[in-house]
Amino acid sequence: IIPSIMRIGGGKKIRHSQTNGNQKTIVIDEFDDYVLVNKHRQLSSEYVPDDLVTIDDEYVKVDEEIEIERNVAKAFYDMAEAASKDGMELMVSSGYRSYKDQEEITNTYLELYGQKYVDNYVAKPGFSEHQTAMSLDIASKSTATFVNSEEYAWMMDNAYKYGFIQRYQSDTEDVTGFTEEAWHWRYVGVEAATYLHEHDITFDEY
Ligand code: DAL
Ligand code: ZN
Repeated sequence: IIPSIMRIGGGKKIRHSQTNGNQKTIVIDEFDDYVLVNKHRQLSSEYVPDDLVTIDDEYVKVDEEIEIERNVAKAFYDMAEAASKDGMELMVSSGYRSYKDQEEITNTYLELYGQKYVDNYVAKPGFSEHQTAMSLDIASKSTATFVNSEEYAWMMDNAYKYGFIQRYQSDTEDVTGFTEEAWHWRYVGVEAATYLHEHDITFDEY
């Protein structure tokens, strides 16, 4: 598949690797809609996306401002508008998180729930898609547990039309290294999302 969409960041550069404990990881320095961040591919602690916008209050379910990449915000608004025509109320509970934000989240969850929980649900600083500003945690306005909501069922059928994919699914734990997260949706553009939806493969495999 050859990307035919707008590039978000600069051009190609030489990749370099970094050793974390006994594991070698790739440090990403090439950014577009297809940027792949996973347990083997990390962002530098300094990486901050350059086109962040604040999500409209009416769509924010938490008591804080949420920022996201401009094109992702636009795709989300289009999706939320279409969902609302079907009686669905989509909201957002997390978007862009800096390296430092992710460090704080990791420490908080480590204290609250321990290492196993963190390994399954929280990416280490530098290894979170949230640092790319291409991922949103989606919520339903009225249902507390997203996986049980009508909004989640709607997303499963329709999100790809707006360029979003559910990044961590129940049968992809072997590939992604994370337990299922109904709420975590990654923007990859309509072309890739449609392909992934039709072929039922992970973004890592794509
Ligand atoms: N919950 C996802 C894996 C993250 O922390 O980026
Ligand atoms: Zn998330």
